[in-house]
Amino acid sequence: MKKNIDLRSDTITRPSEEMRKVMYEAEVGDDVFKEDPTVNRLQGYAAELLGKEAALFVSSGVMGNQLCLNILTSPRDEVICEMDAHIFNYESGSPAVLSGIQLLPITGKYGVYTPEQAEPFIRPKSAYYMPTTRVIAIENTHNRAGGTINPISNIKGLGELARKHNLYYHMDGARIWNASVATGISVKEYASYFDTISCCLSKGLGAPVGSVIAGSKDLIDKAFRIRKAWGGGMRQVGILAAAGLYALQNNIPRLKEDHEKASMLASAISKNPNLEIDMNTVQTNILAFRPKNMSVEQSLEKLAQKGLILSSGKVGFLRAVTHLDVSFEEIEQAIKIFEEVFNK
Ligand SMILES: Cc1ncc(COP(=O)(O)O)c(C=O)c1O
Repeated sequence: MKKNIDLRSDTITRPSEEMRKVMYEAEVGDDVFKEDPTVNRLQGYAAELLGKEAALFVSSGVMGNQLCLNILTSPRDEVICEMDAHIFNYESGSPAVLSGIQLLPITGKYGVYTPEQAEPFIRPKSAYYMPTTRVIAIENTHNRAGGTINPISNIKGLGELARKHNLYYHMDGARIWNASVATGISVKEYASYFDTISCCLSKGLGAPVGSVIAGSKDLIDKAFRIRKAWGGGMRQVGILAAAGLYALQNNIPRLKEDHEKASMLASAISKNPNLEIDMNTVQTNILAFRPKNMSVEQSLEKLAQKGLILSSGKVGFLRAVTHLDVSFEEIEQAIKIFEEVFNK
């Protein structure tokens, strides 16, 4: 049977033979006692790569973001974020439940809001009846906006705003590796502007599980305690950390190929009269585009009948994500399927 081309997400990849080998051979211990040598190696490597004092291996991107928000805030605090942010739309309302805080979303352009937009939303210290603004959060690359990159000048500007108002600064860097490969700006430089960052190992980098968060030693010590309280203290988890370490050491530069694949697809989509894509959003490995001659649901069904599996993004949008388990040949086949489905 012909294999489907699955572009729903970069999370669908399966560990390669080499990755499975390092998992099999991983030296392990009890990580709740901080005695898993492979976890310790991964955390040390990630801290070094991100230029932070400490890093912590966590089960998922959501857990990473929520831990970071928790350690930076107290109940009744407020976090400024972008309207389409993952923390606002796709984390099950957890800031309210896990940390007793609320989010204040600002509508950005291409997932990016500016310091000028954010400053008026910072609550006056004297207003005791308002929530207390505590954190400025951004997402880079921005998933729902179509894998867009937050410009470094804007990142610096928001950092200055945070310092000016004595606020913390958090980055959901689930795909920071994609931003770094696309811009040539090191992940260390990106991370340097933030108090905390959360980065996924299980998306473009191809590990089966896990994220790392990074920050000062004090903050990460706090996160270690909260991770345990939330049931995230795992034991011989070096088997998973080995995959994450392999991913960090081997799979970052190849993200360039995923960006090339996305760009090939985007170029074909832009030429199709029945599809609409804003080429300004084509920056990394995620494409968000609209069908003009049928609904999103019909599009998904027709594409799937021909073996191309996509997902829906924000309302009215289709979403295609390139990754390491899809070849250039499959991208060419996907382009043919787009023509067959939409050029009628
Ligand atoms: C920007 C962003 N942050 C966080 C997450 C959450 O990651 P996970 O699915 O590992 O919890 C995702 C997942 O797609 C994401 O795109």
